[in-house]
Amino acid sequence: MNDPIICVQNLKRTYRVPVRRPGLAGAFTDLLRPEYRTVQAVHDVTFDIQRGESVAYLGPNGAGKSTTVRMLAGILKPSGGEVRVLGFHPHSQRQAYVRHIGVVFGHRTTLWFDLAVIESLRLLQRVYALPEAVFQERLALFDEVLDLGGLLATPARKLSLGQRVRADLAAALLHAPPVVFLDEPTIGLDVSVKARIRAFLRQINRDLGTTLLLTTHDLGDVEAISDRVMVIDAGQLIFDGTARELRGELGQGNRVTVVAPPGSLSALNAATLDLGVLWVDEGRGRYSAVYDGRLVRTPELVARTLAAVPAEDLELREARIEDVVRELYERGQHD
Ligand SMILES: Nc1ncnc2c1ncn2[C@@H]1O[C@H](COP(=O)(O)OP(=O)(O)O)[C@@H](O)[C@H]1O
Ligand SMILES: [Mg+2]
Repeated sequence: MNDPIICVQNLKRTYRVPVRRPGLAGAFTDLLRPEYRTVQAVHDVTFDIQRGESVAYLGPNGAGKSTTVRMLAGILKPSGGEVRVLGFHPHSQRQAYVRHIGVVFGHRTTLWFDLAVIESLRLLQRVYALPEAVFQERLALFDEVLDLGGLLATPARKLSLGQRVRADLAAALLHAPPVVFLDEPTIGLDVSVKARIRAFLRQINRDLGTTLLLTTHDLGDVEAISDRVMVIDAGQLIFDGTARELRGELGQGNRVTVVAPPGSLSALNAATLDLGVLWVDEGRGRYSAVYDGRLVRTPELVARTLAAVPAEDLELREARIEDVVRELYERGQHD
C-alpha cells in the first residue's frame, strides 16, 4: 500500500550553454568557433512522493526547481538518473502519460490564446471525453473556489495574470488527474488571488486526494498548501521534511535590516550578542540580522539596535527563502 506515486532517483540534468566572448571580435569568434560550457541545473536528486501528499519544492532563483518539474512532466529529458510517475517514464512515454497528470506554469498559459476560456475548457472536455454532467460538476466546483464565472467568456489573451492562473488551474484539473505539478503558481499574484489559489489547492488535495508538487520561492505557500517541503539549492536537496519541522528548525526566521554609518558592525553585534543575534554587513551601509521571533522580542531588538547606532532607517521583514537556504547550510556545517 506504500507504493510511491512519484519516484525520483539520482536525477540529473545539465544544459549546454554557449560562452559569449567580449567585443565585436568575440562575437565573430562565437559564430565561427562556438564554445560551450555545461551548467548542472539538477545535480543528483532523489525523493519519493506518496499518493495524496502535498509537497512544496522550495528554493531560490536558479536552484533547479523548474528543471525538475519539467522532467517530472515529461517535457525535458533527464541527463541521468530515473523518474517514474504513476508507473510511467514521463519523457519516453509522454503521449500516454500526459492524460494522467495536470501541469500549471505560473509563467505561461496552456490555454488557447484567442479562445474564450469556456471554449478552451470545452475543447479539453472533448480531448478527455468527459460526459456533460461530469464537466458541469467540475466547473461548478472550480467556480466555487476560483470564481471563474466572470472570466469564462473572455479570451485568454485578455486576462490579467491572476485571472489567467485561475483559468489555467481549471484547465489543468478538468480531467481530475491524480497528480498535479505546478511551477510557481502564485508568482506575481496579489494577496487575495494568492489566498484563493492556495485555498483551492488545499481543497483538491484534501477532498479529492490529488497529489500535488508545487515549486515556489514563497514561504507563505508552504504554510498554506503543503504538509511536506523539500528545499533545493544549486541543484541539490538540502532539506526534506514537514513544514512544521522546517519552521521548528528555522524559528520564525524574522529579519531586521538597518542603515547605519560604515563600521557599525561591531557596535551592532555588541549590543545584541547576549540575545544571540549576529549581524551581517550587506554593504553600502546596510546591516542585517536574522533572528527567531520566539526567542527574541522584536521591540527589544529594535530598541537595542537604535540605541547602539545612529540609524537612518530600519526595516523588519519575515523570512526570505535566501535566509532559509543560508541557515540550512549553516546548520548542516555545524552538525
Ligand atoms: N534552457 C536552459 N538553458 C540553459 N540553462 C538553463 C536553462 N534553463 C535553466 N537553466 C539554468 O539551470 C539552472 C536551474 O534553472 P531552473 O531549473 O530554471 O531554476 P529555478 O526554477 O529554481 O529558478 C539555472 O542556473 C539556470 O540558469
Ligand atoms: Mg523556475
